[in-house]
Amino acid sequence: MQDFAGKVAVITGAGSGFGREFARVGIKLGLRMVLADVQEDALRETYADVTAAGAEAIMQQVDVSKSDEIEALARTTVNTYGLVHLLFNNAGVGGSGGLLWENSERDWTWVLGVNLWGVIHGVRVFTPLMLEAAKRDPDYRGHIVNTASMAGMLNAPLMGSYNVSKHAVVSLTETLYQDLALVSEQVHCSVLCPYFVPTGISHASRNRPEALKNEVPKTLSQQVAQALGEKAVKSGKVSAEQVAGFVFDAIKSESFYIYSHPHALAPVHARFKDVTTPRNPSDPYAERPEVKEGIALALRGGV
Ligand SMILES: NC(=O)c1ccc[n+]([C@@H]2O[C@H](COP(=O)([O-])OP(=O)(O)OC[C@H]3O[C@@H](n4cnc5c(N)ncnc54)[C@H](O)[C@@H]3O)[C@@H](O)[C@H]2O)c1
Repeated sequence: MQDFAGKVAVITGAGSGFGREFARVGIKLGLRMVLADVQEDALRETYADVTAAGAEAIMQQVDVSKSDEIEALARTTVNTYGLVHLLFNNAGVGGSGGLLWENSERDWTWVLGVNLWGVIHGVRVFTPLMLEAAKRDPDYRGHIVNTASMAGMLNAPLMGSYNVSKHAVVSLTETLYQDLALVSEQVHCSVLCPYFVPTGISHASRNRPEALKNEVPKTLSQQVAQALGEKAVKSGKVSAEQVAGFVFDAIKSESFYIYSHPHALAPVHARFKDVTTPRNPSDPYAERPEVKEGIALALRGGV
């Protein structure tokens, strides 16, 4: 897609981080936007920014893990704008972290609900609308961007439920790419795999539904994972604004894999070598042994 002016974009997770930055790029490009987020006050802020800048937009509070709410979002989009050209399945949560076997059923339900089912619902509900639009108009172009993570390419310890959710999003989007290629040359897709980027992701529990909160305090490994995640996200050197720029460049060039830190793919190469050699999994912290030592010490009750 080269020409963005007047195109309709649906953005989930629009209230913060990458989603808000997608909307900011959308202002400059003249997109008409459907902004969706579960957190109403944050969503209102993005909506106010976008409309104050003169862009055309609507907003809808949506929990992406709920099928009926995504279906309602699609109805609102079609009733307002008639069609959709760009879909950003971006809403996500950091999850509970910690040793895999210490994650509760509620932890898994929350993380997979938002990070995986949110993307499944988005693809299931919006792709047919895009393909119908493509059939109606040979000049129509559509593009779906699913936000996964480098956690969808690697399996660092203490991030089990998040890793699982993001590997599934990579798998889903690679399959979507192949499926779309069978039926249309007008609708494309990409998968966004950011490394650590400063956003609100470390405080994702702000939007955790009451019914999915744990009744017991965090375990030691969960506390360690939370502290590690916060530090890594805070110290990220690439901004969400830059990542949004990479995403729109990828849409223009129809590039599938979008990395925030393309220079940091060594652990991914090592993992694929593990798989294909085959040999046992490499240490994802091989280049930074002090991190692993720090985690092991903390898990034994040290600093
Ligand atoms: N920031 C990073 O370091 C990083 C790295 C890799 C991947 N990601 C992914 O990027 C995406 C965006 O996250 P971010 O970093 O901008 O974090 P963020 O917390 O700043 O933004 C996420 C947005 O998703 C919304 N959200 C949460 N649960 C929702 C739900 N059930 N329904 C609808 N909206 C919901 C939040 O309210 C928030 O506005 C996520 O999928 C995340 O997993 C982030």
